[in-house]
Amino acid sequence: TEGHRMSSTEMSSIEFPTRRHGQLSPPDEYAVLRAQPGLVRSALPGGSTVWLVARHEDVRAVLTDPRISASPLHPGFPTIGRNGTVPPPDQIPGWFVAYDPPEHTRFRKALIPEFTVRRVSELRPTVQRIVDSCIDAMLAGGTAADLVSAYALPVPSLVICELLGVPRSDRELFESRTRVLVTLTSTEDERDAATQDLLLYIAKLIAMKQRFPGRDLLSRLLSAGTLTPKEISGVTMLLLIAGHETTANNIALGVLMLLLNPQWIHTPGVVEEVLRYLSVADRVALRVAVEDVEIGGQLIRAGEGIVPLGASANHDQATFERADEFDPTRSARHHVAFGYGVHQCLGQNLVRIEMETVFESLFRRIPGLELDQAVEDLPFKYDGVLFGLHALPVRW
Ligand code: HEM
Repeated sequence: TEGHRMSSTEMSSIEFPTRRHGQLSPPDEYAVLRAQPGLVRSALPGGSTVWLVARHEDVRAVLTDPRISASPLHPGFPTIGRNGTVPPPDQIPGWFVAYDPPEHTRFRKALIPEFTVRRVSELRPTVQRIVDSCIDAMLAGGTAADLVSAYALPVPSLVICELLGVPRSDRELFESRTRVLVTLTSTEDERDAATQDLLLYIAKLIAMKQRFPGRDLLSRLLSAGTLTPKEISGVTMLLLIAGHETTANNIALGVLMLLLNPQWIHTPGVVEEVLRYLSVADRVALRVAVEDVEIGGQLIRAGEGIVPLGASANHDQATFERADEFDPTRSARHHVAFGYGVHQCLGQNLVRIEMETVFESLFRRIPGLELDQAVEDLPFKYDGVLFGLHALPVRW
């Protein structure tokens, strides 16, 4: 069985966060967590203890149970690693990923129409134009590049600017401040300054859209009137942060997967399998029980923190055959890379369009693309909130 990969088949505790051992697949310890009955209690670096949830079925149960909350305002809510990238939700009204229903529902209802398959399909030509302009710049720059800074980071950032209706002349400011927030080496002071700059900028942008509405998401939210301008400002910040590094890491790691497995380039299922296999947002959906609840045969008491492990769920053999194989011809549809339940990623339809365009265009326009560094030496982000790459040197 899966658990035999480790010397012990039962663990009463595990160090967490657990590092990925191979370059790309989730930690081996996850297989042991899945194989044993009940859940495992783990101490976090900050000193708090949490329940680790590893099986696909149990992760989905956690993310759909109304007795389990997404609000860090409840005592016992887990904090993992640097939370500096995420502003405290009580300071930013509209940070609805941290709200529970019914308050959460009000935001979700206001935003759903902006992220339907139909609405985001309208952005396809824009996404293609942005992708092409980044490839043009790479080709004009010579025969080598860092794919993270030249492609993976700017594409999602420019797409969000387009979605929100950020004027072209302000993109530089918008992009540079966001870059500070998604760079792990930024200091707390740099982060605070960038957050303040962005909030100030967003407030000005909203004031401008109130006076001169355009055909963009912000203008439509303002004219609908169901959210206040202050709440719309928080929503903007959330979209910006939720949609940037998550997408960038999937792009960079996805390109790497395809460079290592060129037989799958241009296979239709690549995007979904990259999302499942890599599960970069492994432990993003943190929760706390607000009532006693049983999950996977384990009693969780009110006030205890819960970490549903997305990467573990997505590598659960009970749900995905040959789960540890990267195989874009499988049906990866049930993956939880975008979470599950009421908070399931709002941007997922947009992500799919971005990733499809990014992979297809890159390998079509630069068919001779290859790695410019040994895989073992690549700077993986093992220590971040999200899994990713600091840089991906390529040549052609
Ligand atoms: C929520 C992953 C891209 C906007 C989430 C959640 C996950 C996730 C796991 C659930 C969090 C939770 O349950 O606590 C990803 C991944 C992405 C991606 C892997 C890229 C590959 C985007 C983009 C946008 C976006 C591009 C917007 C433009 C959001 C928002 C939420 C969310 C607003 C909160 C939804 C809610 O609370 O109702 N995402 N995301 N995401 N995502 Fe994404």
